[in-house]
Amino acid sequence: MTEPVGTAPHGLSLGLTNYGDPDFALYLRRSFARSMGYSTELLAKPVIGIADTRSGFNNCHRHFPELIDAVKRGVLAAGGLPLVFPTISLGEVFLTPTSLMFRNLMAMDTEEMIRAQPMDAVVLVGGCDKTVPAQLMGAISAGRPAIGLVAGPMLTSRWQGERLGACTDCRRFWAKFRAGEVTPAEIGEIEGNLATTAGTCGVMGTASTMASVVEALGMILPGSAAIPAVHADRLRAAEATGRAAMRLAQTRLTPDRIVTPHAVENALRVLMAIGGSTNAVLHLTAIAGRAGIEIDLKRLNEVSDSTPVLVDLKPTGPHYMEDLFAAGGIGAVLRELKPLLHLDCLSVAGESLGERLAAPVERRVDREVVRPLAEPLQPVGGLVALFGSLAPKGAIFKRSAADPKLFEKEGRAVVFTSLEDLSARIDDPGLDVTPDDFLVLQNAGPLSASGMPEAGYLPIPSKLARAGVKDMVRISDARMSGTAYGSIVLHVTPDSASGGPLAKVKNGDRLRLSVKERRIDLLVPPDELARRKAPPAPMPERGYARLYRREILQADRGCDFDFLRKHPLGDGRAS
Ligand code: FES
Repeated sequence: MTEPVGTAPHGLSLGLTNYGDPDFALYLRRSFARSMGYSTELLAKPVIGIADTRSGFNNCHRHFPELIDAVKRGVLAAGGLPLVFPTISLGEVFLTPTSLMFRNLMAMDTEEMIRAQPMDAVVLVGGCDKTVPAQLMGAISAGRPAIGLVAGPMLTSRWQGERLGACTDCRRFWAKFRAGEVTPAEIGEIEGNLATTAGTCGVMGTASTMASVVEALGMILPGSAAIPAVHADRLRAAEATGRAAMRLAQTRLTPDRIVTPHAVENALRVLMAIGGSTNAVLHLTAIAGRAGIEIDLKRLNEVSDSTPVLVDLKPTGPHYMEDLFAAGGIGAVLRELKPLLHLDCLSVAGESLGERLAAPVERRVDREVVRPLAEPLQPVGGLVALFGSLAPKGAIFKRSAADPKLFEKEGRAVVFTSLEDLSARIDDPGLDVTPDDFLVLQNAGPLSASGMPEAGYLPIPSKLARAGVKDMVRISDARMSGTAYGSIVLHVTPDSASGGPLAKVKNGDRLRLSVKERRIDLLVPPDELARRKAPPAPMPERGYARLYRREILQADRGCDFDFLRKHPLGDGRAS
């Protein structure tokens, strides 16, 4: 897989349309390509496809025209022909019922367009939460040389002297508004100041986490994860990405040689050290699954327990992504983690992680933002997997974003049977709820009609919020935004819509959370539980919703489609 391009078909001669006459197919293709004004000299060069995900429904990608111009510059300078093609774009807040439902659709679009079109390598330009995992999943399955380029984070803004950034501050101010501490006029002003530049959410939310994790995985250029979207370095990184794509085309270094079990473990370490988003567990599981690599949640706990939190960003700390960039970026984190990392892993830059970390660094690291390994923020990682009678196949808990006073607790279940039920009753003054109860949301997992939205951050019932309650144990099969925080048990597997134990929880049942024991249990006798029946989730009649419902896997398999994962034996069967 590393032999040079040489005389093998490349560029426009790749994957000719089948007319039963290959020479005619090439002649026809060149003729149509020349209609776009390219010279024959340029049309003979290696082709670098550039997957463009700009969209009027994706604010985070609004600078992509400029970014893609810089990628094209890099490709041309290195002697290639850059050809831009569109794929689906997923703007996090513009999709219903939730963006996750369309991640696999975008992955299929990306995979098929890479495979079907003549390109020697591809640059994947993405950024908003689901776009980076979707592109990577597709590229791994397509098996062509590929390199990512992320959007980069937004810059922060100001409101009444206070620094604001999407989207932890979105939630913080909304909670204040619900508690009556912010007026309707003020929340309107805040709304206009939360997201003010191009780029992805500026905290350690899912987009920033995925950018960081993908740098650790080796699929974007070293040092490029944290560069702000509007910084000139982002354009320089884009140009360098174009050049790197040409090197990948020449060496034919494919993603399966980069996304290895060691690289996935490095990515998990970085996820823990940055206090990253719970969503990244799903996405990394799905990405690894495309390379035939399983992520075992028990191994995730071992990695978490042996990886300290080093990065102090919102939602858990005071800083933003632009501060991480100024503090040394993911390179500074990797250098601290060096004794824990597999240094043999290759990156799209063509060097091993060991070679990258051996290079001298002159930049000062801001220790307020990136702590040394010997003096971490927290001695263990931010995320843990829980198991128990409520979640036999696991659940995820972000201990770094939760109140430790709630870590060992038994409580009474207050159950909401759906998202509609939640919004209808959560603020009902007559709701029977106390701060010691566990709020339980059912039917918000991958098999539900809602498609596993970021609804796991159940709001504190307003009568308790107004009384000053800031956190409660909340349990669901849903996900949570990486920008959210609280004592929240997520991704309960199997989910409620598939008839898992979560579907059988009733108001008044006792539940027990033990972070120390890594357990979440429903304290109902098994015979009583066996008597409780959960209705099956309805099957949509047609279209993508039907395909989704038929093929979607549970959270422990990354919510990929069964038929898209790589079987460990490589025979194409779903694992
Ligand atoms: Fe795009 Fe947050 S909405 S990254």
